[in-house]
Amino acid sequence: DSRLTPEVGAPGGEVVLSLRRLDRIDAVDPVTASVTVGAGATLADVQAAAARHDLTVGVDLASRGSATIGGMIATNAGGIHVVAHGPMRQQVRGLEAVLADGTVLHRQGALMKDNAGLDLPQLLTGSEGTLAVITAATLSLVPVPTATTLALVGCADVADALDLLAACRRIGAIRAVELMHHNGLAMAASHLGAPLPLDTPVIVLVERLDADTGPLAEAVGARPAVLAQDAADARRLWRFRESHTEALAAGRPLKLDVALPLHQLAGFLTELGQVGGQAVVFGHLAEGNLHVNLLAPPQGATDRVLRLVAAHDGSIAAEHGVGVDKAPWLHLTRNPGELAAMRRIKAALDPHGLLNPGVMLADDSTPER
Ligand code: LAC
Ligand code: ZN
Repeated sequence: DSRLTPEVGAPGGEVVLSLRRLDRIDAVDPVTASVTVGAGATLADVQAAAARHDLTVGVDLASRGSATIGGMIATNAGGIHVVAHGPMRQQVRGLEAVLADGTVLHRQGALMKDNAGLDLPQLLTGSEGTLAVITAATLSLVPVPTATTLALVGCADVADALDLLAACRRIGAIRAVELMHHNGLAMAASHLGAPLPLDTPVIVLVERLDADTGPLAEAVGARPAVLAQDAADARRLWRFRESHTEALAAGRPLKLDVALPLHQLAGFLTELGQVGGQAVVFGHLAEGNLHVNLLAPPQGATDRVLRLVAAHDGSIAAEHGVGVDKAPWLHLTRNPGELAAMRRIKAALDPHGLLNPGVMLADDSTPER
């Protein structure tokens, strides 16, 4: 449109659309355990509304104060409770969205079962704004736990952390299983001005939906551990994990969000050490979702790390999406048939390529950076 002038920071003269003011939050329905909200509502505001009914959103993120529901759906956000409730995809019960030609899709009924045709809300979830603009959503809600138990557990290595994960799966009622390494924990502790809580190579945060500490103690066994004494203490211990990103920010690391099969984690981490730079790795253990942060990365580090991920049967994008940056590497973990099917869906819903050009599906001529 000739009335639109190119924006600074939008290389192709794109228009940047903010949905932040679509922030309505409808009444929480405790009977269906759901709520309908605008795409611009923040996770924290939806959590607060749901909390008045002892309900909450099944996905939680450290960035809850700024993350919007529309963005979380568009990226199929994961976060710290996926082991208990699944990613955003599992919370989406309905969507309102606008296609490139202005068609409004509206499926926001609170039906728990609806197999009438293709599931368009699920197709749009995780599509990173490339297929439609999500404007509102109906989310399933989960109970606010009445009691939780939490421990930071010291592990000898990743294999020991996986043994702990297996024990956690046996005792059940797991809400979070988060992986940290000694170097990241030390940086987080120093950032928080707190003493190092544990001095082991690998540290796992385990949170359970249960007041009884017995099963957790059984899973922890003889490992060194810090058990949260009360809710405030649990929040204090969570800060060690949640502040990793802030603690690393000043070093401007190369950040790569990837997933590995659990049985490939140890092998991947060993080979990652050969890429160079200083790797600080933390993440969501149960899903094998690693946040690889490389300080002082060598030239070509992105390519080397993502190829290493592919060689270990992982995924180049676990919960932060593909975006523009990783689009040239999508072919590493998606085969030509899958890529062609994605392009055909994109062409069918957005034939003029109006929505998020260059995101997810790179122009075939785009060189890898
Ligand atoms: C986290 C963000 C980086 O897990 O996804 O802390
Ligand atoms: Zn994460």
